[in-house]
Amino acid sequence: MPETAHMPPLDDQHFVLLRDIIYKVSGIQYQENKKYLLESRLQRRLKARNLKSFQEYYYFLRFDPRKQEEFTALFNEITTNETSFFRSMPQLQAFERIALPDVIARKTKRNDHRLRIWSAACSSGEEPYTLAMIVREALGADVDRWRVEIVANDIASDMLEKGKAGIYSEYAMRAMPLLYRSRYFTKLESGDYQVNEQLRQWVRFHFLNFSDDAGMARMTDMDFIFCRNVLIYFDVEAKKRFTQHFYDALNPDGYFFIGHSESLHDVTRAFKLAQFPQAFAYRKVIEGSE
Ligand SMILES: C[S@@+](CC[C@H](N)C(=O)[O-])C[C@H]1O[C@@H](n2cnc3c(N)ncnc32)[C@H](O)[C@@H]1O
Repeated sequence: MPETAHMPPLDDQHFVLLRDIIYKVSGIQYQENKKYLLESRLQRRLKARNLKSFQEYYYFLRFDPRKQEEFTALFNEITTNETSFFRSMPQLQAFERIALPDVIARKTKRNDHRLRIWSAACSSGEEPYTLAMIVREALGADVDRWRVEIVANDIASDMLEKGKAGIYSEYAMRAMPLLYRSRYFTKLESGDYQVNEQLRQWVRFHFLNFSDDAGMARMTDMDFIFCRNVLIYFDVEAKKRFTQHFYDALNPDGYFFIGHSESLHDVTRAFKLAQFPQAFAYRKVIEGSE
């Protein structure tokens, strides 16, 4: 018998109540056609809390003293964390060949040897570690002259723990060029691979919910922001709010990468489009800065 056979169904009234509370706290939007997905994800939370109905669960989220703890568990359950190393190669090539050398050249001219990158919605760490490898290779023998910080955050605390541990299965390493695998990973006895200390020192993982305006406003002085494959979960209103924070966090001449199939068309006109072969990014161009 399926695990959820004795679970109560999610009726329309409670679907709307729970969907609205999830939207309010995270910006994540579950549309009508995703009701069954939400139902099965929430059923696991009811089971974990030993609750008998979605109504009880709704009251738990509203009034229980442990509600913050429950939201953390809820985010782990309701987010889609799919990711991989070297995801969307054309974008990464544009970063490596055009955007990164551009920022390095501008900063070198100013004698500023600090690079700050934000991997927003980093999931289990494959994206920030990919960026770290690309930057290390690009800096080459100059690497010690630079201070590189990669800030990686997500709303899913279980993914952040995975990122901090930096341990990945052989399968997760499938798209990794062999050179990077041998240079930046150690094979463990278990057969998994662990990211080496030199890369881990650059990447700082911490929890951040895009809906937390104060937390978002603390993110500043970024040369690059990667916010890929997450905007699809938000409606236009939430995208506008979050994108304004990304704009504010970016340095003049900085680059903002979103997912290759995502767009800011209805969201903002603040950025300038940078077109690369097979990819694009947004740039923050302040008058007189180019
Ligand atoms: C599909 S993954 C994308 C991971 C990575 N950026 C990539 O492109 O491979 C989307 C991530 O966004 C995170 N996320 C969803 N809503 C969020 C929010 N409100 N604040 C921060 N992260 C969020 C999820 O937990 C998930 O790990």
